[in-house]
Amino acid sequence: MIERRRRRQSHVTIHLTGVLGLLIVGTTGVAVYRYSAYLTAVIAASVLLMAASHVLLARAIRRHELIEHALHDTNRELESFSYSVSHDLRAPLRSIDGFSQALVEDAGPTLDERSRSHLERIRSATQRMGRLIDDLLALSRVTRAEMKRERVDVSEIATQVAAELARHAPARAVAVTIAPGLTATGDPQLVRLALQNLIENAWKFTSRRAQASIEVGPTKDAHGEPAFFVRDNGAGYDPSVATKLFGPFQRLHPASDFPGTGIGLATVKRIVHRHGGRIWAEGKIDAGACFYFTLG
Ligand SMILES: Nc1ncnc2c1ncn2[C@@H]1O[C@H](COP(=O)(O)OP(=O)(O)O)[C@@H](O)[C@H]1O
Ligand SMILES: [Mg+2]
Repeated sequence: MIERRRRRQSHVTIHLTGVLGLLIVGTTGVAVYRYSAYLTAVIAASVLLMAASHVLLARAIRRHELIEHALHDTNRELESFSYSVSHDLRAPLRSIDGFSQALVEDAGPTLDERSRSHLERIRSATQRMGRLIDDLLALSRVTRAEMKRERVDVSEIATQVAAELARHAPARAVAVTIAPGLTATGDPQLVRLALQNLIENAWKFTSRRAQASIEVGPTKDAHGEPAFFVRDNGAGYDPSVATKLFGPFQRLHPASDFPGTGIGLATVKRIVHRHGGRIWAEGKIDAGACFYFTLG
């Protein structure tokens, strides 16, 4: 959405340029008036053409702004709709999970193996749906949250995220290398959420490596602007379906190999875009993956 102040400035510039153009053409016309009736006609035609194109341009810009407004409103409506749906789905889901657990505990010993397994499946499906809803809510919050812009210590956040993962999986030996002194300007909570998703993915997709390694460091994008990368030596992915990576619910690996909901990278993409940045990735099957992003 173009800010109102910037829009007003661009309107003023367009109109001023138009008036200036008309003035120049008009003055030249008056200057040559005495010498040639033919030139006067040509200049009068140019003045008319310029005025007409100016009106057309102003109209096109106005139409563009109306479309932008409509899109913005629709997006906001969709966001608040998906937020309330996800939010309201949580309560009944908690009941289903709670009562199935009560049933397992109360009637478990009297049930046969098959019925017990059915109950367990109900519980694991409700828990999976709960995770999906939590992730959808997180995705929706990314767009709704007010954004701060301050200095963010990317190295520090990445170190904390990796330490937290290591605390939860002490049995895993992962060599994590985080370049010191990485900073950016952005919203600290959103940048943390983005790094958390990327590093968690790297952690998850290296779970079958005896010598897993994850690296976070600085790089440059194609225009020489500063960027960051999160690289791992894990399962990688098929580059021919890479366009799906950042779409919500898109997963390139079966849940039986690597569990997940498929919302993480969509969330990271939204965060990066809210900062005016770009995200892209490189990967190959069984040869690791590398995610790059800028923060505007
Ligand atoms: N580091 C990675 N290595 C290999 N594949 C990845 C990596 N990160 C993401 N992917 C692929 O992109 C998909 C989407 O990622 P994400 O949105 O975080 O979902 P989830 O982690 O819940 O599977 C993953 O299911 C996986 O197929
Ligand atoms: Mg993920």
